[in-house]
Amino acid sequence: MRNSLLGGLSPRDFLARHWQRRPLLVRNALPGFRDLADHATIADLAMRDEVESRLVERRRGRWSLAHGPLTRAQLRRAGGVDWSVLVSGLNLHLPAAERLLRRFDFIPQARLDDLMVSIAAPGGGVGPHEDAYDVFLLQGRGRRRWRLCRPRAFRFVPGAALRLIEDFEAEQELLTEPGDLLYLPPGWGHDGVALAPCTTYSIGFRAPLGEELAGAFLDWLHARGLPGGRYRDPGPRVSRHPARIPPTMVDYASETLARIRWTRRDVARFVGEYLSTPKPQVVFHPPHRPLPPAAFAARLRRAMVVLDARTQLLALGSTLFLNGEPLALPLARRKVLSALADARRLAGTRLAHAALVPLLYAWYRLGYLHLETPA
Ligand code: SIN
Ligand code: CO
Repeated sequence: MRNSLLGGLSPRDFLARHWQRRPLLVRNALPGFRDLADHATIADLAMRDEVESRLVERRRGRWSLAHGPLTRAQLRRAGGVDWSVLVSGLNLHLPAAERLLRRFDFIPQARLDDLMVSIAAPGGGVGPHEDAYDVFLLQGRGRRRWRLCRPRAFRFVPGAALRLIEDFEAEQELLTEPGDLLYLPPGWGHDGVALAPCTTYSIGFRAPLGEELAGAFLDWLHARGLPGGRYRDPGPRVSRHPARIPPTMVDYASETLARIRWTRRDVARFVGEYLSTPKPQVVFHPPHRPLPPAAFAARLRRAMVVLDARTQLLALGSTLFLNGEPLALPLARRKVLSALADARRLAGTRLAHAALVPLLYAWYRLGYLHLETPA
């Protein structure tokens, strides 16, 4: 399958040649691409509590960073300097952004993070930096000049509000225009400066960091249950140095810890739960006036079932995980729910099985999915 999004490369060739290896610039990846929202709408989002946003400014060579929710005064004041406002998780707030994000679903959903948008005045940007993850940068309105440098042991400006590369020397320079797409692997130094009022969309990926993953797994083991037992020391010696910890206590701790066991099955279950858990700031919006169960079942047969943008429905082997919880289901139901998980929408007739309807209804009431009238 050829793909204009990838400049005529098939997703398979893109993954083999570029993914995590080398940048790719695709001119006019989305012909006729228009901004998903105007700058005023993005500024409004940046003022909302449940939206993750940042304001980056550069005043006389000094960078500053403010985390949202931003105030109207902050946004107004930014006018006189090189500024940029960044809104993360645009896909959670704008259906068009969710659709754009899903165009990248040739990469597993478990690796997709979110769609971030930045708006900037001429001269605005976030300074030279590296990102730990892969990113596709899609140019909306305006033009942006990118300077790139392959991964190396960068030095960072000490004490800066942002993690800025010190003495950034670019090896490559390019200009992006509306509809152009730039893919950058992790670790590439980059600095994008707006040349005109500018909108840039970042399709970002995620991968669990070793430390974070291990910490979360230890918490998971704790919640699952750790070996019990009680320390006993019959017939101890009289203590001449009461401050000393008896070595038998270390023996006991060591034996207790050695009894902690896990299998690959446990790890798989943890990974499914962990990767399908929505981010901590995610809040679902249940329907204000939910349909009663019978009306829901009747509508289901005529509607499209659409997963809410916040919902994570992932499959691992034969288990499905929904928003951090494994689902115990017989095979036939797993298959149809896997189809829903992959496409994130499915005709209700395919799901209107008597045994599934109560489950779908519960998810509908929680705001995990919606019914849409087919066009
Ligand atoms: C931006 O949109 O200004 C920043 C995107 C990036 O450099 O990762
Ligand atoms: Co970046």
